Amino acid sequence: MSNDTDIAEQFGAGGWAFTSNVAEVFDDHVRASVPHYDVIQDLVAETTDWLVPAGGLVADLGASTGASARRILQRHPNRGIRFALYDEQPAMLDQAAIELKEIGGEHDVILSATRIQQGPLVHEDADLTLCLFTLQFLPQQERVDALRLARACSAETGALIVAEKIRAVDSRWAEIGTDVAHDYKAAHGITDASIRAKSRALRGVLRPYPQQTTMQAMADAGWHAPEVLFRWHSWAVIGAFASAQ
Ligand SMILES: C[S@@+](CC[C@H](N)C(=O)[O-])C[C@H]1O[C@@H](n2cnc3c(N)ncnc32)[C@H](O)[C@@H]1O
Repeated sequence: MSNDTDIAEQFGAGGWAFTSNVAEVFDDHVRASVPHYDVIQDLVAETTDWLVPAGGLVADLGASTGASARRILQRHPNRGIRFALYDEQPAMLDQAAIELKEIGGEHDVILSATRIQQGPLVHEDADLTLCLFTLQFLPQQERVDALRLARACSAETGALIVAEKIRAVDSRWAEIGTDVAHDYKAAHGITDASIRAKSRALRGVLRPYPQQTTMQAMADAGWHAPEVLFRWHSWAVIGAFASAQ
């Protein structure tokens, strides 16, 4: 992970950004930085067995290099699933286009360089809306704005899955959560210096809220029945539906 050290150290305190340099190494970086990233992507892809019918549409807000789309396409190569991938960084979407091409086949994918809290979102009637590790960069009101726009573009039968770093409410759990995340990254090849550089770069950029606050944002934006699907210390995956039943 020597690239990773360079990536974090090029930014000063609070200067983290998803630049084209980050886009190039993003897949390895996120896998080593987010504990159980592959488990979470597999969990999300498996839900499409139920949530996304043949010809259905998945909208991904903050899609980066399109990892979720690729995982879903590999799980359901013959379902004709369509995608709308949004990211505010065009470099991320350029990388997504390259990596989608690499898995082969013809795919119906819209790539849109958009700030998700401002829109416009260009898709309609999404069967599944994803927002994985993206809301964590937005303040609460902008999270609600993004989730409300997504709800307006969801099918009535649609679902939402949000994943993010959360802030433990009790400081004793927060302390343990910080240390185990550090151990996880170290075990996946990131040096202590790089972990420290990343954490400095993310100051004021990554804005974790308590899990309950995220669930409230989902409810305030018109999503129903929020449920925790996965939780590992300070990382949570929460699902919800567009309709109450
Ligand atoms: C940690 S990455 C998300 C990873 C991806 N969803 C995955 O599961 O691999 C966060 C992404 O969200 C994008 N992003 C951050 N804030 C955004 C915003 N307000 N609107 C759109 N994209 C945003 C960043 O450019 C970055 O590509």
